[in-house]
Amino acid sequence: MITAEQNQNLTRVEGDAPMGALLRNWTWFPFAVSSQLVPGEAPTRVRLLGKDYVAFRNAEGKVGFIDEACPHRGVSMALARNEGCVLRCIFHGWAVDAEGNVVDAPTHHGDQAAFLKGIRSRHYPVEERGGMIWVWLGDLPAADFPDLPFFHLPEDHVWMTVTKVDCNWLQGVEGALDSAHVGTLHQSWIAQLAASTSTEGGTIGLALKAVAPRYEIDRTTFGLSATALREMSDGSIYVRTTQFVAPFISLVPGSQRNEGSIFIGVPIDDTHHLLFFGYFAEDLVLNEDTPRVQALIGNGRVNPHDFAPFKGSRENNWGQDRAAMADGHFTGFTDNLLEEDIVVQVSMGPITDRTREHPSSSDVAIVQARLLLLRALRNHNEGAPPLAPHNGSWGGDDALPIDRVVPEGQDWRNQSELA
Ligand code: FES
Ligand SMILES: [Fe+2]
Repeated sequence: MITAEQNQNLTRVEGDAPMGALLRNWTWFPFAVSSQLVPGEAPTRVRLLGKDYVAFRNAEGKVGFIDEACPHRGVSMALARNEGCVLRCIFHGWAVDAEGNVVDAPTHHGDQAAFLKGIRSRHYPVEERGGMIWVWLGDLPAADFPDLPFFHLPEDHVWMTVTKVDCNWLQGVEGALDSAHVGTLHQSWIAQLAASTSTEGGTIGLALKAVAPRYEIDRTTFGLSATALREMSDGSIYVRTTQFVAPFISLVPGSQRNEGSIFIGVPIDDTHHLLFFGYFAEDLVLNEDTPRVQALIGNGRVNPHDFAPFKGSRENNWGQDRAAMADGHFTGFTDNLLEEDIVVQVSMGPITDRTREHPSSSDVAIVQARLLLLRALRNHNEGAPPLAPHNGSWGGDDALPIDRVVPEGQDWRNQSELA
């Protein structure tokens, strides 16, 4: 059971919150889908861990990530002009380049070089991988990147979106780790996804047939492997292994070998997060015209930079369509599968009160992830790395999410191939 203090420690990231300090110095944060930053176009305001920044792509394609406040007198650089290789503040025209150097201070009379020596905007290292732009916010030297399996794929084998969600980051992370909801919450969409893959031997439809999986959790170098085991009526077992790449990435099995969904819940502040949602496939090109992506984008309205926006609030049940339910849709959220995830997370409140939960056996992956994060907090406070050393790789193929059917009487751990 989670105590009020543990819930606070797990969820709060703003100001001096220990979790904010841990996350900042633990891992890289994705903050945008690559296509959100266009060379020469307006800078974007980014809020992470309760602090405000500005990101922009200069004319050469390089991304700059700096504090929002102008180094002169604090005007928002989100208002700045993107002039080729610099952002120019609209107040007095100071110019900052992608490395955070102030390269022009037109208001200063006298020796510019001497004046500007030592003045910079705080700048943060940025990398682009897997269709996302990531930043290192830590005070410590940048950590190694997690080795996510889709980083090695061609660009057009990864489809990626982002949505701003009005609740705490851990609700997003836990939603992705929770395999048990797939056959309930998403049953109307999973039926479509299953149909789109059934001719290729896709197995995801089996998640609809047993909603009480048994879990086996394994510690990995990068976090946890959470395997949900569902017994089928013929005695076989449907096995779904979700990979939790701590602290906030989950890779969820798709319906084929070497495919899967990507969920990343990045804390904006205590009560908002960015939910990156995507899909990767080693053997398929993915875009909005391909069946796999069409099964995920639902009714065809797609903005990858705001993938599952709300149609309402608590007052109108977030736009739930009771007429659609009467016509057979299970949830009445008919835009896409992610809309269902986001509505249930937000409906728990800005920061859900975990002291009042009653976890069932299907929640063991979530409970283990919380314990891992609490241990990481303790390690960090003691000056140790967040995750204790563990045998195994930092990811790659070891971090592939897998679903497969294991025939009756066989041990799922000794099955390396799809049945
Ligand atoms: S505040 Fe930005 S140039 Fe003066
Ligand atoms: Fe979901």
